[in-house]
Amino acid sequence: MTEPVSAQQPNVIRIAHGIFYVTDLERSKYFYVDLMGLNILHETEGALYLRGNEDREWTLKLELAPEAGVKHLAYRVGTPADLDAMTALLDRQSIPYRWETELDRPKLLRFQDPFGVPVAFYAESVKHQWLLQDYHLHRGAGLQRIDHINIMTPDVEGVMRWYMDNLGFRLSEFTEDDKGRIWAAWIQRRGSVHDLALTNGTGPRLHHFAYWMPDMQSIIRLCDILAGARMPESIERGPGRHGVSNAFFLYIRDPDGHRIELYTSDYVTADPDFEPIRWALDDPRRQTLWGAKTPKSWFEEAAPLEAFKGGWVEAKAGELVGLPVHVI
Ligand SMILES: [Fe+2]
Repeated sequence: MTEPVSAQQPNVIRIAHGIFYVTDLERSKYFYVDLMGLNILHETEGALYLRGNEDREWTLKLELAPEAGVKHLAYRVGTPADLDAMTALLDRQSIPYRWETELDRPKLLRFQDPFGVPVAFYAESVKHQWLLQDYHLHRGAGLQRIDHINIMTPDVEGVMRWYMDNLGFRLSEFTEDDKGRIWAAWIQRRGSVHDLALTNGTGPRLHHFAYWMPDMQSIIRLCDILAGARMPESIERGPGRHGVSNAFFLYIRDPDGHRIELYTSDYVTADPDFEPIRWALDDPRRQTLWGAKTPKSWFEEAAPLEAFKGGWVEAKAGELVGLPVHVI
């Protein structure tokens, strides 16, 4: 599953963390820790490092900032040699990069992918004892582990091919129109359905950040918790059952508008004879098997990404805008 595809290709293990800018850290702490049930691994005056019950490392950092957005999205690679392979790749493609540090991660390779997404790759990280069987410590809905991210982009096929050709990502599912144009793609390194979803729309922007849940009941429990906290407006879409991935899902918006998906009950792609699943663009079962309508905000709203040189990455509409946008 995580073997290097070639000696020159970095061995990416999985999507590993995201860093969100938030404008009121106490408000975000209430939402993510008290209501959702993420665990605090480390806390400073301006930041919270959070993880699910199964995560052995922090998987979401909330950083206080004047404006909400996404600082970067990070992947873990196998060894420091994979970071060397990564810098060789960046040199070959003339992509600028720099080294940064974060809590527990002494060497973070930072760059912006050719499509504008701010990313980081690291090999070394402090691992902590998981909380999976410390049931007495589970709170809220009991988020379990980081699962995937979803990027909106006007160039789904370009991004998909770059990650597959250069970093060995494998295709799980894709949406295609009758002219052969790819509108959405789900690609993975970990053997799950996806580490990275790419969906057509104005971008690049982060559409959502997803945690895997222990069961469907825990997702419904989060709906009750948000209702009890008088925050039903945080529930944007679902719960429901996706066609793509077969996952049971719920989408919520945090106090800054960041979209989080709670996700469970998908399938594995680790079998060597797995074959990608094609969906026709006009098949309504892709988004939800149950037929529930998707709200307009779903198609239009996503989080801005911080540019490598500062400021925000410019989001481009792309040639497909104007046609119906379909995302999951
Ligand atoms: Fe998702």
